[in-house]
Amino acid sequence: MNILDLKKEIAPSILSADFLKLKYEIDEIQNTSVKILHLDVMDGHFVPNITFGPSLVKSIRKSTNLLLDCHLMVSEPNDWVEPFAKAGANHLTVHVECESVNTQTLLKIKNQGCTAGLSLNPNTPVSAIAPYLEDVDVVLLMSVFPGFGGQSFIEDSFDRLVELVKLRGERKFLMQIDGGVGKANIGKLSRLGCDLFVAGSSVFNSSNRGIAIEELRKLL
Ligand code: DX5
Ligand code: ZN
Repeated sequence: MNILDLKKEIAPSILSADFLKLKYEIDEIQNTSVKILHLDVMDGHFVPNITFGPSLVKSIRKSTNLLLDCHLMVSEPNDWVEPFAKAGANHLTVHVECESVNTQTLLKIKNQGCTAGLSLNPNTPVSAIAPYLEDVDVVLLMSVFPGFGGQSFIEDSFDRLVELVKLRGERKFLMQIDGGVGKANIGKLSRLGCDLFVAGSSVFNSSNRGIAIEELRKLL
């Protein structure tokens, strides 16, 4: 199974998990209907926050069979494709805003046996992904400025999603959204054509993650 086999799935982001209890947190997610885990990698340069690197991904890989979706919020993603692929990531997303990102980056990800994602920040024109439409597996639309969990959903992301869905046409890539996704907007996002929904605080801030996921799923 890879990310392209998923339709209308929630990808919990561990950014809002308790890192001291990560094994327990991931086991809890694994016991739900979830198939994919979203891992936010930040370098303190592309975004004003630092999280973790390939060594943590390697440890997570050993303790779960969930698909690992690594969102690389780093300035030099080309340098990190191989280390994260070797650590066991299944899907790698890079940001279109990085100067060094081009079609070769997506091909490099695929050559490492992963599927390739391309992300756009809220202030990046949708047209920035036009050169990559034939090579990308998943387009990740940021609905907050990346760096932190728990921010409010930026409302014009609905219109941007509609534009992206139009741009996709008959192509097979998936649309994923990340940032402020929860019960208030997930139904509308799904109806507008989004396939994958990253959910950090709306899952991990709930005392029962299984129930939180099922409540979100019902709205898809
Ligand atoms: C933000 C990250 C997100 C974050 C989402 O930079 O890319 O994946 O974890 O968290 P919520 O769902 O709380 O906005
Ligand atoms: Zn993310």
